[in-house]
Amino acid sequence: MKKKFLMTILSASLALGGMVHMAQAQDKTPVKVGLMLPYSGTYSALTEMIERGFKLYVQEQGGELAGHPMEYFKVDDESDPAKAADNVNKLIKRDKVDLILGTVHSGVAMAMAKAAKESGTLMIVPNAGAVNITGPLCAMNILRTSFNNWQPGYGIGIYAGEKGWKKAVTVTWNYAAGNEMAKGFEDGFAETGGKVSKALRLPFPNVEFQSILTDIASQKPDVVFAFFAGGGAVKFVKDYAAAGLTMPLVGTGFLTDGTLEAQGDSANGVLTGLHYADDLDTETDNAFRKAFEAEYGVAPDVYAVQGYDAAQVFAAGLKAVDGDVSKKDEMEKAMREAVIDSPRGKLTFSPSGDPVQDIYVREVGDGENKVVSVAVEQLVPPVNGCRLQ
Ligand code: BEZ
Repeated sequence: MKKKFLMTILSASLALGGMVHMAQAQDKTPVKVGLMLPYSGTYSALTEMIERGFKLYVQEQGGELAGHPMEYFKVDDESDPAKAADNVNKLIKRDKVDLILGTVHSGVAMAMAKAAKESGTLMIVPNAGAVNITGPLCAMNILRTSFNNWQPGYGIGIYAGEKGWKKAVTVTWNYAAGNEMAKGFEDGFAETGGKVSKALRLPFPNVEFQSILTDIASQKPDVVFAFFAGGGAVKFVKDYAAAGLTMPLVGTGFLTDGTLEAQGDSANGVLTGLHYADDLDTETDNAFRKAFEAEYGVAPDVYAVQGYDAAQVFAAGLKAVDGDVSKKDEMEKAMREAVIDSPRGKLTFSPSGDPVQDIYVREVGDGENKVVSVAVEQLVPPVNGCRLQ
């Protein structure tokens, strides 16, 4: 009698468990993803690649992450820091998104990080490298799948010094990204025996380079370091070649990533530091490049990889909570502890939320950014005042 009673209870609870499971499996509530990116202006091409990368990964998972489809909300941030707070609040307060994915421009991203930190909204940065995002603005709910501005500059700085170049000029836009990448270069270059003799700057997104090129020529450096990206990078590299400057041009990889077709022969021989290259020839990267080209008809670049990995990290968080986005702490923990098999190679995260990754030296040839060497393996950026609660 007692045995029969226990069996009845057992089968009733199994049935109930099954029903709960079915109800969970059928919960197809979309996860709300807020894309705050520059859909216009000099960085708009970067946006297209980030978005394509993110969506490719989702598509590869059958259009769902942890069993949930994505619902996208878009805001064009115009790479304008002055509009950033209002723009990000459209996603946080009006659309009530579960994830903010953004952005490209460091100045805009810092304002976004402040709002994300205050509201507790999950934020993945698929590009902007601003040092402060993982410094004073760091928070458990903020991660980036791109780089810290210092990382690629440091990598190419080390390489430039090892080449025996002693005197460098740095040239870039005068805002966080340019200044912090130039600082990375200066640190790496100093460590290997070089010195920056002059820092040339122009306001973002100005592309009138003639007087800067004249200044470079008069300085007679051994090497020139530059950071520009998107449309600005295309114009700088072309103007540099057209000016007939013969000193080697180096930079962070944004100078030649996603820009080579437009730059043509003027980019040949440019050396850059970055966490991605076009010929890594690993199983993961080959599969990624093949899938990307099949879907979009163009080769991926670093921005596409950063978007793809943002989706990978987000998926790791969602899987850990079976798609229940209200379990924020568990999600954040799983994302921070994720080991991502990225097209770039191994990707993990530092305690402050920065990517830990190899920095490659690449040289432009045959329309590709080809690997020359690994400047630094699994580079962890310096910690800069991050206090996590
Ligand atoms: C930035 O503002 O952080 C940035 C923009 C474009 C390429 C790389 C960095």
